Amino acid sequence: LVLILDYGSQYTHLITRRIRALNTFSLCISGTSTLDAITSLNPKVVILSGGPHSVHTADSPSFPNGFVDWALENGVFVLGICYGLQLIVQKLGGEVRVGTEQEYGKMEIEVVGNSGIFGNKKIGDKQVAWMSHGDEAARLPEGFDLVAKSQQGGVAALENREKRFYGLQYHPEVSHSPEGMDTLRHFLFDICGVAAGWNMEDVSAEEIKAIKGTVGPEDHVICALSGGVDSTVAATLVHKAIGHRLHCIFVDNGLLRYKERERVMETFEKDLHLPVTCVDASEQFLSHLKGVTDPEMKRKIIGREFINIFDVFAHDLEQKLGTKPAYLVQGTLYPDVIESCPPPGSGRTHSHTIKSHHNVGGLPKDMKLKLIEPLKLLFKDEVRELGRILDVPVGFLKRHPFPGPGLAVRVLGDVTQGNALDVLRQVDEIFIQSIKDAGLYDTIWQAFAVFLPVRTVGVQGDQRTHSHVVALRAVTSQDGMTADWYYFEHKFLDDVSRKICNSVRGVNRVVQDITSKPPSTIEWE
Ligand code: XMP
Repeated sequence: LVLILDYGSQYTHLITRRIRALNTFSLCISGTSTLDAITSLNPKVVILSGGPHSVHTADSPSFPNGFVDWALENGVFVLGICYGLQLIVQKLGGEVRVGTEQEYGKMEIEVVGNSGIFGNKKIGDKQVAWMSHGDEAARLPEGFDLVAKSQQGGVAALENREKRFYGLQYHPEVSHSPEGMDTLRHFLFDICGVAAGWNMEDVSAEEIKAIKGTVGPEDHVICALSGGVDSTVAATLVHKAIGHRLHCIFVDNGLLRYKERERVMETFEKDLHLPVTCVDASEQFLSHLKGVTDPEMKRKIIGREFINIFDVFAHDLEQKLGTKPAYLVQGTLYPDVIESCPPPGSGRTHSHTIKSHHNVGGLPKDMKLKLIEPLKLLFKDEVRELGRILDVPVGFLKRHPFPGPGLAVRVLGDVTQGNALDVLRQVDEIFIQSIKDAGLYDTIWQAFAVFLPVRTVGVQGDQRTHSHVVALRAVTSQDGMTADWYYFEHKFLDDVSRKICNSVRGVNRVVQDITSKPPSTIEWE
């Protein structure tokens, strides 16, 4: 295991991902975790991340007392990156000072000492590295050697081979450090002797074994499928482990996309052979949403109705089986459970937060279900890879994210107004199908249409119309936290707009949303 102690750098999770890309398992925990928490994971390598702090600040985060002795006694390799390097320098008796010249951006660094960390690079060889720091190492701790220096003469890399402590002042994990991956590879495999071998086939086999070990032979498990990638892959894993003792529910809340129910049910049943109960609760949801215009209220009502349906499902199951279901499967991912040391003033809390699935966030209290979260150590792209191994169709794995409240947040205002939902479904389908036909679907993070409760004047045929406006939204993004609007060719937009107005009754105007996030959000409500 390669353990990353997070000191709040925006690149920390990238380190985890880069190391996993080298087929080596890595985990990231808070940089201020206790010594017990660190040692119980028994890492062979610990990487101290960068961070926005200064070691001189009174409450700057650090590894726990006893960490250095434990690492030395147990032959653990330690690599400090940026702030992590400064922690090593300061804690092992060197000196860190505010840099005379701060170093930000691409810099040239020069190898000045022999070290395995740069592979077979020779003294005098140069490479480009991404720096982002104000403090610098002024005096190295005893026994440490300078291995590379920056073009301004600052410490860029250091090591103490005997103690197995290494440091890089720059960020090898970012793509702006073109040789950074090589450096990480040399460090892990040549210096630390890590054996690469972690892959998704093993993860799949281990998870199935773990689920078999956790769920007793008489226990039953339930799972709410949203139609998204995470819950589907999680359920498929559990199904491989315990077969018919898994019971899934898929709820049609009347807020799904065009033919969504038929499409996902076909994947669940025909491709994955999952035992799924499909509940058509459209009327129930829509009757409670009638006249509601406040977006948060819509979300609350949808969440509450989902729980009511889930409750009935669980109780019916109990009657049928003669026993209460014992476990609930959730498709929680790693980014939702990572602890971190957030930068001061960022507003993020330093705590273990689990973002619950919108729909099952507030389970009825009397259910007392234990959780199975088989994806909780994986990133989204790893879940897709796992899904591929589990034979989830590739087209399904590449689907754009879809919000839990569905089209309710894409019909602005009352979702039951006129035939808004029906109009939106048709427009959305034309837009998405056109994107697929143009081969653009996989380059876009999310694309959808929004129904605006606004009528404008138009002329269609020889007649004056007073019909609705729809907006098209397409964005690129890494994680949904920030997003850029997608630039379509004029011809594409022209064709889509024409197709929509010609074939969807009740629409005479199409506009495109050209705002990024921030200042907008991806959804309109
Ligand atoms: P925003 O609109 O906040 O969306 O920029 C970021 C991502 O989250 C999705 N989203 C939701 N997902 N329940 C969900 O399960 C919700 O209430 C919800 N609101 C937004 C959105 O589609 C985008 O991927």
